[in-house]
Amino acid sequence: MVRGIFITGTDTGVGKTLVAAGIASAFRERGINVGVMKPIHTGCKTRKGTLIPEDSVKLAKSASVEDSLGLITPYSFREPVAPFVAATENNVVINPERIIKSFKTLCKRHEYMIIEGIGGVLVPITQSFYLADLIKRLKLPALIVTRPGLGTINHTMLTINCLKERKTPLIGIVINYSRKGENTLAERSCSETIESLSGIPVIGTIPYISKGKLTGLNPFLKLADGLFDIRC
Ligand SMILES: Nc1ncnc2c1ncn2[C@@H]1O[C@H](COP(=O)(O)OP(=O)(O)OP(=O)(O)O)[C@@H](O)[C@H]1O
Ligand SMILES: [Mg+2]
Repeated sequence: MVRGIFITGTDTGVGKTLVAAGIASAFRERGINVGVMKPIHTGCKTRKGTLIPEDSVKLAKSASVEDSLGLITPYSFREPVAPFVAATENNVVINPERIIKSFKTLCKRHEYMIIEGIGGVLVPITQSFYLADLIKRLKLPALIVTRPGLGTINHTMLTINCLKERKTPLIGIVINYSRKGENTLAERSCSETIESLSGIPVIGTIPYISKGKLTGLNPFLKLADGLFDIRC
C-alpha cells in the first residue's frame, strides 16, 4: 500500500502549497525519500514557450526531487480557472487515468507521496468528475488546509462532508494564517469548534510567516513526524 497524503483545502489560496512544501521539506530533513505531485495546475506562466506549473516547482524543490515536471503535473494550463474550464477552453478532456499512471510511477520512486490538490474538493476536473473523486481514485487519506476566522466553520464542514460522502479517510485539519491574525473570537474559537462539530482533529496551526521566515519551533516538523507514523 502506498504511503502518502492528499493535501486539499477549503478554497484556492488557503495555503495548500505552503503546507505541502513545508511538510515535504520536513520529511527530507528527517531523511525520508518523499515524492510530490500537483496533478493539474491552472494559471501557469509561460517561459520560453513552455507552461511552468509554479506550485509544482516549489514542491519539487522542497522535496529535493528530480522527477520531471510533466510527471509531477501531467496537466498544465495557462488560464487561471478550474481545470474543467481550462481544459474545455483548450479542447482537452482531462483523463484521470493519465494522472493515476504518473502517480504510480512516482510511488515506485519514493517512500511517501505528498499530493497537492487544486482549489477545493468540488472543483470540476471533467463534466462529471470532481477533485474529491480524484482523491478517492488515488486511495489516499486527506488533510484539509483551512483559514482561521469568520466563514471557516462553514467552508471546513462542507469540505469534510464532501470527503466523508466518498468515504475518504480524513487525517486532520491544518489551520493556516495566510494573513496576519487579528485575535478575533472567530479565530480563537475555530479550532475547538471545528473539532467538536466534525470529530476531525486539528493537527496543526501554522502562524503567519512574516517575510517567509519561521520563528520559534518549526510547525512542519511536528506535522511531518505525526504523519509518517500513519499507515495508509
Ligand atoms: N502561513 C503563511 N504565512 C505567510 N504567507 C502565507 C502563509 N500561507 C500562505 N501564505 C501566502 O499566501 C499565498 C497563498 O498560499 P498558497 O499558494 O500556499 O495557497 P494555495 O492553497 O496553494 O493556492 P492555490 O489554490 O493557488 O494552489 C502565497 O503567496 C503564500 O506565500
Ligand atoms: Mg497551491
